[in-house]
Amino acid sequence: MNQELDWGNLSFGYIPTDYNVRCYFRDGKWGEIEVSQSEEISLHIAATCLHYGQEIFEGLKAFRGKDGKVRVFRLEENARRIQESAKGILMEPLPLEKFKEMVLKVVKLNERFVPPYGSGASLYIRPIELGISAQVGVKPSTEYLFIILVTPVGPYFKTGFKPTNICIMRQYDRVAPNGTGLWKVGGNYAASLTAGEHAHELGYSAVLYLDPKEKKYLDECGPANFIAIKNGVYITPASNSILPSITNKSLMQLAEDMGVKVERRHITVDELRDIDEAAAVGTAAVASPVGEIDDLDTGEKYIVSKNGEPGPITTRLYNTLRGIQLGEIEDVHGWCT
Ligand code: COI
Repeated sequence: MNQELDWGNLSFGYIPTDYNVRCYFRDGKWGEIEVSQSEEISLHIAATCLHYGQEIFEGLKAFRGKDGKVRVFRLEENARRIQESAKGILMEPLPLEKFKEMVLKVVKLNERFVPPYGSGASLYIRPIELGISAQVGVKPSTEYLFIILVTPVGPYFKTGFKPTNICIMRQYDRVAPNGTGLWKVGGNYAASLTAGEHAHELGYSAVLYLDPKEKKYLDECGPANFIAIKNGVYITPASNSILPSITNKSLMQLAEDMGVKVERRHITVDELRDIDEAAAVGTAAVASPVGEIDDLDTGEKYIVSKNGEPGPITTRLYNTLRGIQLGEIEDVHGWCT
């Protein structure tokens, strides 16, 4: 165990760990998994990831459970999602087995960085894939580098599991209609930086984007999916410009297990008047409750949490999810490895 880290006070930042793992796709095939102690890579100056954004990534977590075991949450789902992202921007998909082998290897090699049970922290696993062959024409790379690094993290939003405020700003879109929004492409996050920083300057944690075509429906919530509870029903936007969040998918399953109806559908801005609870959900955000949503264009303020506390259904879902990840609650769906 690493004694120097203040596990209970980690932020969502980068802390160096001992090893990362790498794998190259060259001459039409993936090579052997390599273990590296270097935090750096060497790239061709004309690599497609540098010029044309051929870069995708994932985010998953490993937790130290009550029983001392380390559990990786929804490994296969993440393996599949990064394959979809790869296909989306014409990169070479990493075989599922190779992904799993790489994740398990890098977690084992860095086991001393998996935060202790009870700290509230976890080991964030960040796979990335880069197009590395030289091109100046706008064409896909023929060679790829897949890297997985890990770093211990605390809560994504400073407030942790306390309501945070978000805002609507119609002058910004995160992605184009029918664009790359449903893949985990680095460029989507670059495109969100200006809006995100603007929101932070105004004191908000994230931007609640509207659909980029009509600006009528709720879409992605900063780097996370948006969910709300309305009259006891779990609602979440149906959109082809948001990432299919694995946390959202898991929470929808847990909601159904609890007898809560789930609807994935268009949600209009006006509906925010009638919601009882809301949260930003994702691997990093987990389920971060939303306190207030301010529409900065109309001046309307939607007060979601009237007492400054997370709502009861969000709390129950959050506790169940955490319980499964920490081995406190039986993993009936087989989500942990
Ligand atoms: C995640 O939830 O893992 C993400 O990738 C969001 C973000 C930190 C970019």
